[in-house]
Amino acid sequence: MVEFRELTMGDELMYCDYMREWIDDDETIVPTITNITKYNNFEELVHELADNKSHDESVDNTTLFLIDDDEIIGAANIRHNLNEKLKTIGGHVGYGIRKKHRGKGYGNKILKKSLDYLSRIGVQEALVTCTEDNKASAAVIQHNGGEEIESSTLEDGTVVRRFQIEIA
Ligand SMILES: CC(C)(COP(=O)(O)OP(=O)(O)OC[C@H]1O[C@@H](n2cnc3c(N)ncnc32)[C@H](O)[C@@H]1OP(=O)(O)O)[C@@H](O)C(=O)NCCC(=O)NCCS
Repeated sequence: MVEFRELTMGDELMYCDYMREWIDDDETIVPTITNITKYNNFEELVHELADNKSHDESVDNTTLFLIDDDEIIGAANIRHNLNEKLKTIGGHVGYGIRKKHRGKGYGNKILKKSLDYLSRIGVQEALVTCTEDNKASAAVIQHNGGEEIESSTLEDGTVVRRFQIEIA
């Protein structure tokens, strides 16, 4: 059964297995907030993720993990609203699927479930972004009804594609 839920203290072993794959592959961990190196230990990570209130530059947000058959497949950080930075890059949802499970439809699924979550908290139109070179993410967004709008360009010249999704 596929679950989409917050982490609990009982998830440490499967979380370590999941994180190990990102680190061993030397990949940028997405969503960033799930990166264990940002915390002192697993307990702190679980508590910080549960404390989803806005602080510093962030807005209220929720981090949910896609779990299939006792294995973490991926994670999504869902922002409840947007600030100016998120309107430029980031949007309402940041998501990642562990490498060994890519290309199996989980990316489409995690964005769909994130949009369902946004719908439940009253967001009717989502903004989802990806960098110009991220063909897989653009495909995920378009699969979920993304209509491309004006892109933004970061200070370093990176072009960010931006999509609006009407949530039913
Ligand atoms: C982007 C990402 C989440 C896609 O996950 P995934 O599980 O491989 O995606 P799916 O298997 O659901 O495939 C979704 C679509 O992308 C397409 N796709 C997958 N990999 C692709 C690639 N490398 N190039 C082009 N299209 C690709 C699939 O054909 C599919 O298209 P369809 O829905 O029209 O059939 C995954 O590659 C990932 O985690 N990347 C690293 C983190 C990241 O970039 N996150 C997004 C930040 S904006």
